[in-house]
Amino acid sequence: MRLCGALLVLVTLTSVVSSAAVIRRDEGGGGGKLPRPASLKVARWEPEDTKHFREDSDLTGHYDERFFSGVVDYDTRLDTLKHMVRAWLLTTAKEGIETWIAHGTLLGWWWNGQILPWDWDLDVQMSADTLTMIGDRYNMTRHKYVSKDGLVEREYLLDVNPWIWQRVRGDGMNIIDARWVDVRNGLYIDITGIAETQPDSMPDILNCKNYHRYHVNDIWPLRDTTFEGVPAKIPSSFDEILITEYRSKALVVTEYEGHRWNTKSKTWDLANDVPAGEDALLLTNRVREPEKYYSVESGGFFYNVFRLLHWW
Ligand SMILES: *[C@@H]1O[C@H](CO)[C@@H](O)[C@H](O)[C@H]1NC(C)=O
Repeated sequence: MRLCGALLVLVTLTSVVSSAAVIRRDEGGGGGKLPRPASLKVARWEPEDTKHFREDSDLTGHYDERFFSGVVDYDTRLDTLKHMVRAWLLTTAKEGIETWIAHGTLLGWWWNGQILPWDWDLDVQMSADTLTMIGDRYNMTRHKYVSKDGLVEREYLLDVNPWIWQRVRGDGMNIIDARWVDVRNGLYIDITGIAETQPDSMPDILNCKNYHRYHVNDIWPLRDTTFEGVPAKIPSSFDEILITEYRSKALVVTEYEGHRWNTKSKTWDLANDVPAGEDALLLTNRVREPEKYYSVESGGFFYNVFRLLHWW
């Protein structure tokens, strides 16, 4: 009995310590524009470094380390992202790879069929089966792209994480399943798969590795639309998905991250008087930021208790 008590104290202590680390890491970790706080380096404590995708660690975390050659300016970033998503949508359509736009990219579609100009990376999803297929057939393939007007030529790398077989979060280091990377500057699209992880207890419920959860009927049948001027697909219940993820405020707020919604042109225009970055974080009416994978810690209190008990 005394041993039991001692173990319980140990469990509690360990959990409190790791929860403290969790809280510290989450503060200010979300969102795109700010440099990553030093506390994120806590991730280096992982007993074994399993991480497949590597981002620049001292800047913003938005560039693939292998292709990083300097921080890009506003116009270059937008130009990069717009052509990058067109290339992804056109290439996947041509190759018969089923994919749809997700998260902040889907929110951008909702407003005007374009990316949100304050975004740094884009998000698309696919089924776990499709993911396995691209892991087998398309890993490390390079794809050339020429814009419709013939003026822009680019090349993209499709890199598939070897951890795709693991459909639960694990150590949290590999929740992005694949990436579509602009090899000129390292900006990328995050590709995540969704899978039915508990068919017995939760049939038809699909998860990504970052705890986003969908019913099969929320996703399929996919709807046809256009994004950045090219054919694209979106989930069947896109509105519910957006409201669950960002709250309905994200569908009505017209000033955000240094931009203002222009009702005439239906675009988000740069506006110097709209706060961005740290100033915007202080405002209470801000839109909930998309959850970035590096800002979310695996577990929490109960997870840690469970993990320790499990080991015994
Ligand atoms: C894709 O290729 C890279 C580089 O060779 C490799 O590290 C990775 O394990 C591969 N992914 C899959 C899913 O096989």
